[in-house]
Amino acid sequence: MSEEETTEQSGLEVPGPAEDAGPGDYASTGPGSGAEALRVEGISKRFGPVTALRDINLHVRAGEVLGLIGDNGAGKSTLIKIITGFHRPDSGRILVAGEETQLRSVAHARSLGIETVYQDLALVDELPVYLNFFLSKELTLGPFLRHREMRRRASAALDEVGINIPSVSAEVRALSGGQRQAIAVARAVNTAAKVLLLDEPLAAMGAREGGQILRLIERLRERGDLAIILIAHNYSQVVDVCDRVNLLQHGEITFDRPSAETSVAELLELVHAEYRTA
Ligand SMILES: Nc1ncnc2c1ncn2[C@@H]1O[C@H](COP(=O)(O)OP(=O)(O)OP(=O)(O)O)[C@@H](O)[C@H]1O
Ligand SMILES: [Mg+2]
Repeated sequence: MSEEETTEQSGLEVPGPAEDAGPGDYASTGPGSGAEALRVEGISKRFGPVTALRDINLHVRAGEVLGLIGDNGAGKSTLIKIITGFHRPDSGRILVAGEETQLRSVAHARSLGIETVYQDLALVDELPVYLNFFLSKELTLGPFLRHREMRRRASAALDEVGINIPSVSAEVRALSGGQRQAIAVARAVNTAAKVLLLDEPLAAMGAREGGQILRLIERLRERGDLAIILIAHNYSQVVDVCDRVNLLQHGEITFDRPSAETSVAELLELVHAEYRTA
């Protein structure tokens, strides 16, 4: 036995801002009271005949968790992929920390502190866990990869997220869906991110693992310097963990309200009403 089971009380450790996070003066006085981290205005996106997004306006502040909900095909992942620099919008603008920015690529968005856990995860099956963890940011010493150090740090970061991975040297293909999600979340969290985009991070997770990720998100919010957008289909989780909810329906945001001023019943009613009128 290498390590003791984490007890319920010990909870999840949240890594502090990374060393290169820059001067952060986010004296938070409550959820969502921080500086505006991201704003999109008038974003539209078509794929051939399909209008995936129509005149989207959305914003999120440091220290705030924004829940983005909507049915399959509503446009949630497309919006995330625009904010992360993967797709170009057809129109509209994106402001990062108040500055209008043309996101040229995922790497460019990342350099501005926008980190994403994609629904389709982007882990490399053939590589061990720790190399996935450091993908394209490998630690080196001269021409050599610092395997031992990467194993150590990946292992510590995964412990912090609180998910059991048998070994960081295991190939990712041998892991369960929930374990993969955990690696992707831990990897994104372990950066100097200012905006964290989570596209259904709970989808493949059991109750225990999902609960741990939710508590991690809550602790990240308390850190105060990170804006989080969480896509999830479980409305009760969204109402519990998010400060505010946006509902996306057929490519349009139709609802934007603090979680405290809505309920699972209301959100379900809004979505079901769509089918009654369809
Ligand atoms: N690369 C693409 N090429 C063509 N059409 C696309 C592409 N990506 C998304 N779409 C279309 O855009 C619409 C929105 O898709 P999107 O993946 O954003 O939905 P979603 O809200 O994330 O759904 P889900 O809850 O199922 O993940 C859908 O009609 C989808 O078929
Ligand atoms: Mg999606």
